[in-house]
Amino acid sequence: MSGAAGSVRPTTGHLITFEGGEGSGKSTQLAAVAERARAAGLDVVTCREPGGTPLGERLRQALLYTEHPDDTPPTPVAELFVFAAARAQLVADVIQPALADGNLVLCDRFTDSTLAYQHFGRGLELETVQNAALAAGRDVRPNLTVLLELPPAVGLARAAEQNDYIQREPHAFHELVAAGYRTLVEREPERWLVLDGTRPQAELTDEIWRRLQETVGLGEPV
Ligand code: TYD
Repeated sequence: MSGAAGSVRPTTGHLITFEGGEGSGKSTQLAAVAERARAAGLDVVTCREPGGTPLGERLRQALLYTEHPDDTPPTPVAELFVFAAARAQLVADVIQPALADGNLVLCDRFTDSTLAYQHFGRGLELETVQNAALAAGRDVRPNLTVLLELPPAVGLARAAEQNDYIQREPHAFHELVAAGYRTLVEREPERWLVLDGTRPQAELTDEIWRRLQETVGLGEPV
């Protein structure tokens, strides 16, 4: 394999992504699972989107948290390409090298966020979103994706203090995102672990950890 823009080295590691609406608890679960994986002796790399590289963190800040009273809000297409730019950098600098070295990579949001928010939420054409997501994500696909489901009203109340401009979108937008995630799960059910985000955190961590062990081939009965 060489030459084609999307070609990558074969990978030996595993990529587990964490998805959900605002305040779904995915970052907390990611941290808890990372701790267990490290305690079990796995080499773990964690990252988040948008972000995870110096450029990505600057893009995150510029897109989500910079308030310019005179600015018009980012257009959906501008938003799409900022997320894609941050991902392209993260995949090239962090995720692909870590997978090639056999690490377990745990990423807070990935391509599914772009489909849920920019396609299902914003209503951008599927083809446009998929092309941007594929270009940025190259051939990298999660081995497992954890979805923490929570009614948007509950999640938004939990996440109230962060308050970026996407969180301030009307309730209907967050409902579209939640429904979008469900559609993504229906399309590819074997890749997803869908959990009720209102359950106690320790129970959720146990369940994610069990499934992760199966996915990476650890802890199966001998
Ligand atoms: P995040 O930091 O995960 O926010 P939270 O912890 O509050 O869930 O994500 C930032 C915001 O960016 C969140 O509203 C989801 C949005 N987002 C997209 O719209 N598209 C994307 O591709 C990504 C990665 C995030």
